[in-house]
Amino acid sequence: MMKDEEEEEEERERSILPPPSAMQCQWWLQLQLKSSLFLIFIFFLSFSSASNYSVTVSYDSRSLIINGQRKLLISASIHYPRSVPAMWPGLVQLAKEGGVDVIETYVFWNGHELSPNNYYFGGRYDLVKFCKIVQQAGMYMILRIGPFVAAEWNFGGVPVWLHYVPGTVFRTDNEPFKYHMQKFLTFIVNLMKKENLFASQGGPIILAQVENEYGFYESAYGDGGKRYAAWAANMAVSQSTGVPWIMCEQFDAPDTVIDTCNSFYCDNFKPISPNKPKFWTENWPGWFKTFGASDPHRPPEDVAFSVARFFQKGGSLQNYYMYHGGTNFGRTSGGPFITTSYDYDAPIDEYGLARCPKWGHLKELHRSIKLCERPLLNGKTTFLTLGPSQEADVYQDSSGACAAFLANLDDKNDEVVEFRNTSYHLPAWSVSILPDCKGVAFNSAKVGSQTSVVEMIATNLKPSTPSPLRSLQWDVFQEKAGIWGIADFTKNGLVDHINTTKDATDYFWYRTSLLVDENEEFFRNGSSPILIVESKGHAMHVFINQKLQASASGNGSSPPFKLTSPISLKPGMNVIALLSMTVGLQNAGSFYEWIGAGPYSVRITGMKKSTVDLSSSTWTYKIGLLGEHLRIYDTDGLNAVKWVSTSEPPKQQPLTWYKAVVDSPPGYDPIGLDMIQMGKGLAWLNGQEIGRYWPRIGSKGEQCVQQCDYRGKFSQNKCNTGCGEPTQRWYHVPRSWFKPSGNILVIFEEKGGDPTKITFSTRKISSVCAHISEDHPAFDFEYSQKRSTGDFINKTTTRLKCHPSTQISHVKFASFGNPTGTCGSFAQGQCHDPNSVSTVEKVCLNKSYCELEISQENFDMQLCPSLVKRLAVEVVCS
Ligand code: GAL
Repeated sequence: MMKDEEEEEEERERSILPPPSAMQCQWWLQLQLKSSLFLIFIFFLSFSSASNYSVTVSYDSRSLIINGQRKLLISASIHYPRSVPAMWPGLVQLAKEGGVDVIETYVFWNGHELSPNNYYFGGRYDLVKFCKIVQQAGMYMILRIGPFVAAEWNFGGVPVWLHYVPGTVFRTDNEPFKYHMQKFLTFIVNLMKKENLFASQGGPIILAQVENEYGFYESAYGDGGKRYAAWAANMAVSQSTGVPWIMCEQFDAPDTVIDTCNSFYCDNFKPISPNKPKFWTENWPGWFKTFGASDPHRPPEDVAFSVARFFQKGGSLQNYYMYHGGTNFGRTSGGPFITTSYDYDAPIDEYGLARCPKWGHLKELHRSIKLCERPLLNGKTTFLTLGPSQEADVYQDSSGACAAFLANLDDKNDEVVEFRNTSYHLPAWSVSILPDCKGVAFNSAKVGSQTSVVEMIATNLKPSTPSPLRSLQWDVFQEKAGIWGIADFTKNGLVDHINTTKDATDYFWYRTSLLVDENEEFFRNGSSPILIVESKGHAMHVFINQKLQASASGNGSSPPFKLTSPISLKPGMNVIALLSMTVGLQNAGSFYEWIGAGPYSVRITGMKKSTVDLSSSTWTYKIGLLGEHLRIYDTDGLNAVKWVSTSEPPKQQPLTWYKAVVDSPPGYDPIGLDMIQMGKGLAWLNGQEIGRYWPRIGSKGEQCVQQCDYRGKFSQNKCNTGCGEPTQRWYHVPRSWFKPSGNILVIFEEKGGDPTKITFSTRKISSVCAHISEDHPAFDFEYSQKRSTGDFINKTTTRLKCHPSTQISHVKFASFGNPTGTCGSFAQGQCHDPNSVSTVEKVCLNKSYCELEISQENFDMQLCPSLVKRLAVEVVCS
């Protein structure tokens, strides 16, 4: 009976999306195709699958219902422009391998509608291609169109030009905003429809989102806010996509849409209407980084705890924001001050590698939750109190299938609880998942999956062939401090930075002059006048008489800053040039689009006239840099200036462009550009924008941890590392941007650095570890899935996996007993099986993948009988 149901379900599944094996086959064929006949055949196949297999997507209070079948869904955010098309298939596959069913992405309006009606969908913005890759992987999609998205993305995703359409106010009942928002959203919906990408058309998209977390800001917009939220929902629903619409954190969402939760925990979330399912659109498995702050991490145990709690408490769809954060290439980051890296401590790291143990631990979690799907979604639930902070939720369906979640909410103490006449050990702040209400398949605090140590290995920039022995030649171009070419305009007083540049560039020059009397006191007594600049943000360099004399910037939470610095002036005419900079426009908040930048007060004290106020003097303005204007980082503009060629490029020189022609680092590992010895600026490779670099060091008062205690509520700064270190040292340069040789690397350095210290670093998994206790939940997933009986096989096994192109070449450490330390620093304890290393060598050496069972066959199980023993292993893959 159960078998039949399963077969039926599989049948339905197949009708939604082609089965994975067929898809792989199709991939293979696409690669191998030699004859056009085959092409026609494939075209016919994909055409017919797209047009024939439409499915219905509906929902009730429990879950999404796809073709009549309830669904428990694990979803993962991967934003297409935060990686490159060459990475997309691998990222999607790795998510699938991690137990993910759905890929979620925002749609990035300002990346697509570059000016009104001027659309772009090429390169990293090829949304259709991205959706089709997900479809080919046999996965679903959630499309969060917004089109306001926040997302630490420039201007929250809304095009800057829209702010300058007369009469526009963002995100309220405002005609120009609504007009452009509706036009873009409709454009995207029609594009998806044209490509048959909605599930109702046989495509992968099962849900779409309008707006984003508007509930937090709605009241700031008064009645207009209320009207706008209702309008947005109705406008979205009227698009007739055939799939439901969601609105996250929307506390007055109309009944036509599903309101969802975003937070570190959503177990207590209740949709506003009892007939809506409980969905979690943003579970943050880490956090983003800010230039000048330390590095946030969220422990895998706590991420798993939050997810298990959510499903325990009736949730049925959960999305990791982010599962792969990726990179804010070019000037796409918002904030301000968000780093170019958007790694997010996500299960897949910025470079596309599985972050272990987080990725593996969550994979095991997903498998365990999936084993509970039937009773969870179709059963009745019973709540049991097991202790003061211990509780169980038991789900049982009419066929008798039973699943239970046992939680210990105590954030300090482990507990042993009694459940159905059996004792269960529950570590503090953990959930155990019992897919048959008996055996423990998973405990969120017991991490048994492998850990990898990742290193950035420097390779010097190699001059490009044909003269490989020559030292690296640099081409240097010096940008002028102040106005270059013809000034844009001259005006009395200081203008707003963003209103003038309209974000065409980060850079904006403000120049004035000051006549200084030779009898000024400070020329004689050695004192210095003091320059005081107050700016709305974000950063500034001050050049006086062409020399960099001071710099200042705001920080994450407060872009405005006050620069106070002694300066040196000369008798007679002095030229004061301020280079004002933005570091990503505001990405969220009520009326955020009105937040300005740039200096609003410039004064000098310590002169005869005590304070000289230059704020209303005559200022001359120039938008951007000459090099940017001439696009000297791109093939068409490379020769637009006279570069000076040298093997000894100037160091610590502000406003300098550097160019070098380099080879690609050998191998296939991902690449980061090491900018630790540089100041601040922008970088490009072969005309592709790597992005802003700024190895800015964290501010003093920050708190970091040596070891993170996963127990207890997480908040974004709970487990920071890297205090006193540059927030971002390496900048991802995708492999697909490289040619084997002749790569043009261009750097614009604002304040001074040492380009000879720039290296490429390759990101390598240097070793792989396993650390597992003999009492680890011993549920054998593969075996159980094969038999689908729900019986437990008690086999505590750990797995070691290298990249398929490498093998386990060396067992660095192995101890069965009571080893101490963590991956990379394991040490033997007093209890140690002397055969540990040889056993691991026997099972694992020269293999890409091996399974180590904790059994008498492999280890001395009788050793130290009073201890719960553990196996710790570290191997090298090469
Ligand atoms: C949420 C927002 C996301 C992202 C996240 C933090 O509030 O919806 O777009 O900004 O915060 O990473």
